[in-house]
Amino acid sequence: MAIQAIKGVKDILPIDIPMWLHLESISRQLFEDYGFSEIRVPIFEYTELFARSIGTSTDIVEKEMYTFEDRDGKKITLRPEGTAGVVRAFVEHKMYADSQISRLYYMGPMFRHERPQKGRYRQFYQIGVEALGLDHPHVDIEVLVMLHTLFSRIGISDLSLQINSLGDSTCRGAYREALKSYLQGKLPILCADCQRRYETNPLRVLDCKTDADKFSDSPIMLDYLCDPCKGHFHTVEEGLRSLNVPFEVNPRLVRGLDYYTRTTFELVMGQMGAQNTVAAGGRYDGLVQEVGGPATPGIGFALGVERAISLMDPNIVKIPRPALFLSALGAEAVAFALPVIHNLRSSGIRVDTDYTGSSLKSQMKKADKSRAGHTLIIGEQEMKSGKAILRNMDTKEQSELSLAALIEDLKKTLAPA
Ligand code: HAM
Repeated sequence: MAIQAIKGVKDILPIDIPMWLHLESISRQLFEDYGFSEIRVPIFEYTELFARSIGTSTDIVEKEMYTFEDRDGKKITLRPEGTAGVVRAFVEHKMYADSQISRLYYMGPMFRHERPQKGRYRQFYQIGVEALGLDHPHVDIEVLVMLHTLFSRIGISDLSLQINSLGDSTCRGAYREALKSYLQGKLPILCADCQRRYETNPLRVLDCKTDADKFSDSPIMLDYLCDPCKGHFHTVEEGLRSLNVPFEVNPRLVRGLDYYTRTTFELVMGQMGAQNTVAAGGRYDGLVQEVGGPATPGIGFALGVERAISLMDPNIVKIPRPALFLSALGAEAVAFALPVIHNLRSSGIRVDTDYTGSSLKSQMKKADKSRAGHTLIIGEQEMKSGKAILRNMDTKEQSELSLAALIEDLKKTLAPA
């Protein structure tokens, strides 16, 4: 039996690549305009990094990580998200010493052992940004504006940006207590995970995959924010309004990762069903310290590439087509054409060919299939005369080109209008 790809893991085929490149290039351009630089961090790290950053009582760490012992007996995990690795690199390379703010972006695969379904994979790709060093609310605004702009540039506008504040270490404690007393009465109806989390991490209960809708009357963090957190949130809201970034405050927004403080957000699509969050992120002012660095605030987001692409209009990208299909008729012509093809390609002309030397009819079929704009035909006659036939595959017009001046002539003919 043929071996198949692992469940929940997708091939990204050549036909899909133009959309991926388009999204990646729009993202790069935008991030660089905002002063962000690319960072590439490893796909695997010590398990402890993720346990400490994301939180030991989260679904990701408890149930979803691909963790294994390597040959040295070290516990290793395939990264389930990008922030932890970027923060680890930031600390390890003392990037905080270089400047007041480090603006970083990354792209790449992440791994979570979730139940696969449409829009939810076990290997999926994220494009993310992290801004480390400043807790000024204008950094939050900058990151949110960038996220909003990115989605409008890829032509997706009907998304809802939902924001919330999760407070900080000053005010979270009081909220936690209020939440615990609220949840106490509901303990018997909580799932086994949540009964345990009630003690260790009651905020996680609000994010429960099975029970979340039972808590629609729970206390909300916004009512417990300390004055500095309230002021911070207010400035973010005002800034977004002044820059015409539409958003909704969702006081019930809780994230699946424990590192968040203050501003948190999700970009949500109404019609995508359960997997409706296209991008998400927030502030994590305690994470750098947690990972062993000096107290340094940070904020970022990551978008799910597969989810974003599923919302993009495929017509916004052109599928590249070869400029030329070279039809060599017969074995002799195939040999004759070898240096011709090489020279054409070396001069930057995209050439497709199949070396079969088959009949003109069959070569024309192949040329059509290759979607080339022109076919260059070389047969016995053409080898003798030193002239090849150039056929425009759209208009079917044919002309003769001297093989000696081929490259210059072709460059003129094939130049995009
Ligand atoms: P997250 O919400 O876990 O946040 O993931 C961000 C995005 O990745 C989601 O909104 C979704 O589009 C995509 N995603 C997550 N899991 C899957 C999956 N199994 N299949 C397909 N797509 C998926 C983070 O990862 C944070 N590191 C974001 C962040 C950056 N916060 C601060 N900086």
